[in-house]
Amino acid sequence: MTARKLAAGNWKMNGLAADLAEVEALAKAHPSPAVDVLICPPATLIAPMCTRIAGSAIAVGGQDCHAVEKGAHTGDISAQMLADAGATNVILGHSERRTDHYETDASVRLKTQAAWSADLVAIVCIGETLGEREDGETLDIVGGQLAGSLPDGCTAANTVVAYEPVWAIGTGKVPTLDQIAEVHDFLRARLEERFGAEGAGIPLLYGGSVKPSNADEIFGVSNVDGALVGGASLKAADFGGIIEALERAE
Ligand code: 13P
Repeated sequence: MTARKLAAGNWKMNGLAADLAEVEALAKAHPSPAVDVLICPPATLIAPMCTRIAGSAIAVGGQDCHAVEKGAHTGDISAQMLADAGATNVILGHSERRTDHYETDASVRLKTQAAWSADLVAIVCIGETLGEREDGETLDIVGGQLAGSLPDGCTAANTVVAYEPVWAIGTGKVPTLDQIAEVHDFLRARLEERFGAEGAGIPLLYGGSVKPSNADEIFGVSNVDGALVGGASLKAADFGGIIEALERAE
């Protein structure tokens, strides 16, 4: 099984109603992309974004969900609520949430199961810090996060894994292509060991300072099936360039 290709945008805590014009422009510029395209806006924009681009090829996702379906959890959003608003995917365990909200591999694993219960695809994020890389611990760290954050039952249809080195996020710094290949090949082997043929089909995204100008070379790396894009997903022209690079990739 080969993994499907996915260009995913993470708007993080950016975007007001006026910014929906960007995603509308993106949908118009890419009416039938040859790869899957997803935008994950802040939760307030999920429903209006779905309305604005209804009938387009662009899917909409959330950026986090709670591990339970409903209850006394002020300020949280459940996977069912994301799905009800029109989301089909949810980003889980992003390094900003692991830092800002003390999320652990165990909590990400529970959230992944919650996402599946609501028929959402879970995009599970992992990645090492600069200190961990400098100490030569990258594969140990990402291997541990992968094992701990993914529940049993991952399939090519219900899970995406995003490798995002913490030091490459929003910094303009990108690992070398050899460094990306080393991690992605390692993650693919681990996914196949644990999930067999399904593990071969789980899309592996790279994330961290992806731009139209570096997307072609990143998408040429072995076992890179797409990207999780922050800053460059906010503008239709930039994200469109990344989509086109992924369409060109073998
Ligand atoms: P940047 O593309 O802004 O570096 O962010 C990457 C990221 O964190 C996507 O989830």
